Amino acid sequence: MLFGRKDRKPIKIADKKVVDWKYAVCGYCSTGCSIEVGLSAEGKPVTSRGKGSAPVNQGKLCIKGIFEHELVTTAGRGTEPLMRDKIYQPYQPTSWDAALDRTADEFKRIQEKYGRDSVAVVSTGQLLTEEFYTLGKLVRGVIGTNNYDGNTTLCMASAVSGYKRSFGSDGPPGCYEDFEHTHCLLAFGSNLPEQHPIIYWRLKEALEKRKFPLIVVDPRVTMMAQFADIHLPITPGTDLVLLNAMAHVIIKEGLQKQDYIDAHCSGYDELAALIEKYDPESASRICGIDADTIRHVARLYAKAPSAMSIWTMGINQSTHGSDGVCGINNLNLITGNIGIPGGTSLSITGQCNAMGTREWSSCSGLPGYRMLEKEEHREEVGKFWGVDPEFFPKKRGLQQTDIFPAIESGEIKALWIVATNPLTSMPNQPRIKKAMEKLKFMVVQDGYADCETAKYAHVYLPGAVWGEKEGVQTNTERRVNLVRKFVEPPGQAKPDYWVFNELAKRFEQGRKIKFPETTSEIFDEMKHLSKGDGRTLDISGMSHDMIEEQRGIQWPMREGEATGNPRLYSDGKFQTSSGKANLLAMDYIENNEVPDNQYPFWLNSGRVVEHFHTRTKTGKIGNLNKFSPTPYMEMNPDAARALGVQHMSYVRLVSRRGDAVVMVQLTQRVPRNMVFIPMHYHDCVNRLSLGLLDPYSRQPAFKQCAVRIEHVDQKEAARLNVERRAF
Ligand code: SF4
Ligand code: MOS
Repeated sequence: MLFGRKDRKPIKIADKKVVDWKYAVCGYCSTGCSIEVGLSAEGKPVTSRGKGSAPVNQGKLCIKGIFEHELVTTAGRGTEPLMRDKIYQPYQPTSWDAALDRTADEFKRIQEKYGRDSVAVVSTGQLLTEEFYTLGKLVRGVIGTNNYDGNTTLCMASAVSGYKRSFGSDGPPGCYEDFEHTHCLLAFGSNLPEQHPIIYWRLKEALEKRKFPLIVVDPRVTMMAQFADIHLPITPGTDLVLLNAMAHVIIKEGLQKQDYIDAHCSGYDELAALIEKYDPESASRICGIDADTIRHVARLYAKAPSAMSIWTMGINQSTHGSDGVCGINNLNLITGNIGIPGGTSLSITGQCNAMGTREWSSCSGLPGYRMLEKEEHREEVGKFWGVDPEFFPKKRGLQQTDIFPAIESGEIKALWIVATNPLTSMPNQPRIKKAMEKLKFMVVQDGYADCETAKYAHVYLPGAVWGEKEGVQTNTERRVNLVRKFVEPPGQAKPDYWVFNELAKRFEQGRKIKFPETTSEIFDEMKHLSKGDGRTLDISGMSHDMIEEQRGIQWPMREGEATGNPRLYSDGKFQTSSGKANLLAMDYIENNEVPDNQYPFWLNSGRVVEHFHTRTKTGKIGNLNKFSPTPYMEMNPDAARALGVQHMSYVRLVSRRGDAVVMVQLTQRVPRNMVFIPMHYHDCVNRLSLGLLDPYSRQPAFKQCAVRIEHVDQKEAARLNVERRAF
């Protein structure tokens, strides 16, 4: 008798009575898993499963994907447009016509009085790519404000900026398949098992077939760090120092690929001169990694037949984010690890369609990675849209992180927020709230009427979410994948592209320009604009049906090609004017808040597997929210003992910006002088964060600021916590 096993009944999977399966790509993270949603006889989504033949996930899903069909019954959805004269008054339900008329009228009135750029637009990584393209056409070609950005500035801007500085263009050059070929993987500030579980599964599969060293750079002992062969617990924000020191070792020891450098890179001499002073001993005093380990890792990387780097927010969310990315690109260029199987610089993206907005939304320029700064690009797009190229600005305007200060200073009077929640996601929340209160007019367009930012709007427009509309998204490895529509939006909620089209009709210029009615027609416009000219971002060979057939296709896929291409720059030709990649000499300057006597702890932030971003969706899905319904903080047990702080008790954190009450989880995952809080909760980590900006990417340093810990009345804290949980 083995522990009563004999009588145990086999596990049965409940029969959900599925009559039809619909194809979709996951709407949470940028891994881009293919899902099938099971529909009941009444057409209700009742279950989700991974698509077996999909190249990304081969049937696997993480917990968020497994319960994704439950989205359609989540609380808090907007079912009708809402309006009010002043914020803090109750909203009144209204018609689409009235809400859109008012929005268009206010934009026009404010632009007439204060200039075109006094209206700002902040979008997202959540829409379909066709919707991003349409929004770009509306904002750049009709409304004509240059203060237009996506929330990707909080997330990927440093990667974008670094790719442009090194390679002349955005676009992650590698793919997940590179795990199968690499001989060394270096991961910076990337906690795959919790943030991108299925990418991690791909890595594990590769490691089981063939062992190669996994090196993780992270100030926290993340799950990824626990699985690593070598963990480098770096001092927050000093990655550039480590990277310069690795370059120092490689060049001093002659381990660089000189042939590749001579043929395909410029700037080598400047780099070699700069890294002189980054000897491992000097570097170790700043970055906290001992000199021997730096040498060991540099040699491992340079001597591997192929080596790759991946990174996520640990690099991007820093005042040296863009330089960190260029430092990683430097490392891969000098070791010849770009565009080869297993050799790459692969930024792991965040949102499901953060790539789609980078490619097509025109936030940072014009569609298809075109630039406002280039006359031929303005001409090309103007001609295709039927807009006078002179209407376009000649350089990019403000990014999200500069838009809020411009509201404070009165330059910007109106704000249109599309499917993002800056009141929770931006650093220094008290400051953002004040800026919102100052606006003359704000519109929030979102699937959820209860998102915190909607509290400060004059008009709320209910958007359709995942599965309520059809179109494409691009994942981390440039794979374009499709969401089919499988359910109607609730009430009067509408797809975002419908809203953009309707708004366009309310502007004289918008009535002159073609805004196609379906996403497949919009996709055709994008295909046209992606064609030719040696473009990397070419999707002209794709169609919605072909994408579903192949379960996603990686761009470039040129007209006539049977499928996409896994890698960029395999020919050593880059998108710079010389065709060579830029090696960049970058000095490290300490310029951020660091712990001191008054505020002795580093405050670090990040994600947990069960939640996505500001919990607008996952906070309402019981099977996800139950794992971490409440804000908490990881704290080192030794530090807790010294301060008399108990496991599972509440404490108050104080920074120079504000305070927050959180529950303590004692764990060795954080060092003695650091605390970690998941980023997802409202009224929590961003009441504390500073968010100084990277000079190139304008991305905030969310992960590096200083706090102190105070005791609080436990009963009071518990009451506050219950209130906060009530969504
Ligand atoms: Fe969705 Fe990302 Fe999970 Fe895949 S790993 S199921 S894309 S959330
Ligand atoms: Mo990001 S979360 O890739 O915008």
